[in-house]
Amino acid sequence: MTKGFTVAIDGPAASGKGTISKAVAAHFGFAYLDTGLLYRAVGAKVMLGIEPLKAAQALVPEDLDGEALRTPEVAQEASKVAALPDVRAALVDFQRSFAARAGGAVLDGRDIGTVICPAAQVKLFVIADSVVRARRRFAELTSKGIKTTLEEVLDDVQARDARDMGRADAPLKAAADAIEIDTSALSIEDAVAQTIAVIEAAMAR
Ligand code: C5P
Repeated sequence: MTKGFTVAIDGPAASGKGTISKAVAAHFGFAYLDTGLLYRAVGAKVMLGIEPLKAAQALVPEDLDGEALRTPEVAQEASKVAALPDVRAALVDFQRSFAARAGGAVLDGRDIGTVICPAAQVKLFVIADSVVRARRRFAELTSKGIKTTLEEVLDDVQARDARDMGRADAPLKAAADAIEIDTSALSIEDAVAQTIAVIEAAMAR
């Protein structure tokens, strides 16, 4: 019944989409792909001197592991390589075949509902105030021992928002038929419960 059932969850950095995606994937037994990791892995390789398209074409699943991809420096580089159309094109097939796997899949990113899976059964666009997002990301980074300040994190979030929304190819935006969830004042539990309700309604149709 869930063959090819795809949940597309897009939104800006630290909006809560990753937390929601993981929780709903576990709830329904769907596979989960954090597509930001693909761009982070390419960005990390570019920081080592590899050419962006070559890095994207040579990506293997092991490249997606590791806390090293979670740093603000890698995030910035990720959003720079993510503006390159040939890099994005090189990553499309992997994402689409992941989305089509039997048993259902949740993919989170920036262009899942608009470009990668425009026919997804469920599309969500998760947003939150940028200061709230910066506070969350700051807490997450400091808990991992990464030294930064709230101001730096806010700058990082705002710079990435601007780059991700302003690029010509697959900019960050809600699909016309996406359901918006604002997590600024929502607990994780409430955000997850709302998302589960949306998915259950779509499954019942
Ligand atoms: O989601 P995360 O913050 O890890 O993504 C890192 C960067 O990768 C984003 O700022 C964005 O530029 C890029 N990205 C993208 N399309 C996606 C997922 C991430 O352009 N589907």
